[in-house]
Amino acid sequence: MTPEALLQDKACEIPASDDGLAETFDAWTRDTVRRTEHALAALLPTSDTLPARLHEALRYAALGGGKRIRPLLCQAAGALAEASPDALDATSAAIEMIHAYSLVHDDLPAMDDDDLRRGKPTVHVAYDEATAILVGDALQAQAFFTLSELPLPAERRIALVRELAEAAGSRQLVGGQAIDLQSAGRSLSQPALEQMHRMKTGALIRAAVRMGALCGAADSPANAGVYRALDDYSSAIGLAFQVVDDILDAIADTATLGKTAGKDAYDDKPTCVSMLGLEASRALAAELRERAHAALAPFGPRARRLGQLADVVIHRAH
Ligand code: IPE
Ligand code: IPE
Ligand code: MG
Ligand code: MG
Ligand code: MG
Repeated sequence: MTPEALLQDKACEIPASDDGLAETFDAWTRDTVRRTEHALAALLPTSDTLPARLHEALRYAALGGGKRIRPLLCQAAGALAEASPDALDATSAAIEMIHAYSLVHDDLPAMDDDDLRRGKPTVHVAYDEATAILVGDALQAQAFFTLSELPLPAERRIALVRELAEAAGSRQLVGGQAIDLQSAGRSLSQPALEQMHRMKTGALIRAAVRMGALCGAADSPANAGVYRALDDYSSAIGLAFQVVDDILDAIADTATLGKTAGKDAYDDKPTCVSMLGLEASRALAAELRERAHAALAPFGPRARRLGQLADVVIHRAH
């Protein structure tokens, strides 16, 4: 069965309980990030594994920093679908491995040539360029290995592998990165800009939500509407995330961002801000927030965490 069929034909029913929602958003966020980081630390090779320097660099790239938005989205969607916490922790860690790899490669001299990430020197600066390339390669392999070992039926594990492979591959993340690089010094139409954003950033965010749901009760009676709604939500949030990232690059400072501010303008990248202007970019982010909330409306309070995460993503731009 294809992931699409798993998602749409054998989708889960929303549980009636609101377990866990009494906890404050901050407490939930802290706990969820802690659990994902614990899973990541356990799933990555230890830093004394041969070759030790590579594994030390790999842990440097993946641990100790980052907002962990994708794990939070995966866990919130998974909770809605009554997924097991163990499967969600490992799935969130796998998604974060792909994300961390994409950042290590994004920062390389051949790409954005950045020397600061998550408030620390980038991997190619702290180690060297070859090590940074290999760290990315290894994180990507480790992500799929992690999914192959999930405590879920084989069919579900394959669906998750496929979902992540599609989002990370040349039709999505990697292709979006290629378009980004070939677009430096050029302008893009709004549809082309949106497509690039959806590919390089939106796809993995959408996958995080879909994979959380896929970890859940996909075998209970069909409720295709649940997954369609989550898809609408995650498409809006995924695009919004890059819109906000572009805004922050233009308005925030390096200390706040933990990465070099103003880098997009310096590199003459077409971004939301350079193509649409700051106010139109903010308006687009706000519109996407509305779209995300509208998609969640049928779930009522059970989707509160996803709603709060949408707000977190958009409010960073104000
Ligand atoms: C940065 O992602 C790169 C983009 C896809 C825009 P994040 O803003 O999620 O980076 P971390 O994980 O918090 O460092
Ligand atoms: C990065 O986009 C997207 C991916 C890593 C896939 P950016 O180049 O805008 O990300 P930052 O601003 O360096 O974090
Ligand atoms: Mg980039
Ligand atoms: Mg970059
Ligand atoms: Mg950016």
